[in-house]
Amino acid sequence: MRQAFNPAVPLPLLSQPWNSAAMLRTTEAAMATSEIKQLVLRQPDDWHVHLRDGAMLGAVANHTARQFARAIVMPNLSPPVTSVAAAAAYRDRIIAAVDPAYGFTPLMTAYLTDSSDGAELARGHAEGVFTAAKLYPANATTNSSFGVTRVAALYPALEAMQKAGMPLLVHGEVTDRDIDIFDREAVFIDRVLAPLLKDFPGLKAVFEHITTAEAVAFVEAAGANVAATITPHHLALNRNAMFDGGIRPHAYCLPVIKRERHRLALRAAAVSGSAKFFLGTDSAPHAAPTKEAACGCAGIYNAPYAMESYAKTFAEEGALDRLEGFASEHGPRFYGLPLNTGTVTLDRLDTPVPADLPAAGTTIVPFHAGETLQWRFSRG
Ligand code: DOR
Ligand code: ZN
Repeated sequence: MRQAFNPAVPLPLLSQPWNSAAMLRTTEAAMATSEIKQLVLRQPDDWHVHLRDGAMLGAVANHTARQFARAIVMPNLSPPVTSVAAAAAYRDRIIAAVDPAYGFTPLMTAYLTDSSDGAELARGHAEGVFTAAKLYPANATTNSSFGVTRVAALYPALEAMQKAGMPLLVHGEVTDRDIDIFDREAVFIDRVLAPLLKDFPGLKAVFEHITTAEAVAFVEAAGANVAATITPHHLALNRNAMFDGGIRPHAYCLPVIKRERHRLALRAAAVSGSAKFFLGTDSAPHAAPTKEAACGCAGIYNAPYAMESYAKTFAEEGALDRLEGFASEHGPRFYGLPLNTGTVTLDRLDTPVPADLPAAGTTIVPFHAGETLQWRFSRG
């Protein structure tokens, strides 16, 4: 049902949310986006999150489960999740950690190493334990020391994944110390990702947490088997945020945030309506003292206000009508999973973000700490 635009009427903008993008992409609707007071969206999923383990898992998991129906859970635990048994046990711990009322489904991933066994990956996928497998170049980021040192060693595993229709999730950075850290994603495309996808043209691949205009262009030009996730922080910040009046460890993540032209390219991709781009928070909690240190950890904890942050970006871009596709439709379609049937609501209401949150006997500083976001998330 098409709704006439009337700024005086607070919405259910999307009374048939699954038809919203098609219905509302008109000049009128784009102009009206600043007037929208309420969005009702199909429940979103997070296609890239770090839930950790133990006490930290207990502290953070409900923040994700409250907003998202499902999440692709990263396997970079210590030790990493490499076997079907380890992933099944980790899934059980996640389910035990979340409030059952949320009905949250963790989607598990395998951590690829030089010695990954294609048969184990395919078995895990067939048994519904592994949704996908994650390629960390060795030493690219947190707990990646067991990652892949030679992509060639991975070829038998990739062959098995291609055959099984199991997506490859890629942390796209070269790790060579002689490559400038701001260039590591672009160099990865040329040296690793493009050749890999040429050799496996039928492999489903998600270029995770893309940060550059080069990555956007690469994904756009690739086949329908290639997609990308985009984080709230790479949409909101450019690299100045890391040095704003002093060193800002809470704006530090990997791949590192890039210059403004890249942020603008990411924003254009996210709001473009292209099914190749979808939501992945890369929420990565670290205790505040481990970030506020001489050698601080990489990762931004955005789970508690993730949808509010994405809504801010889409509202600023005059594209709130495209948030639902990005957050709730493109991901499941790429993964071949059903769309969620529940809804969530974002009201245009001031939402102060605390300076820090208690977690596992310490604190975590959330993304947007100390700011007031203009959206408020609720379930239903
Ligand atoms: O900033 C990041 N933090 N990037 C990653 O790739 C890993 C993550 C983490 O696990 O802390
Ligand atoms: Zn990540």
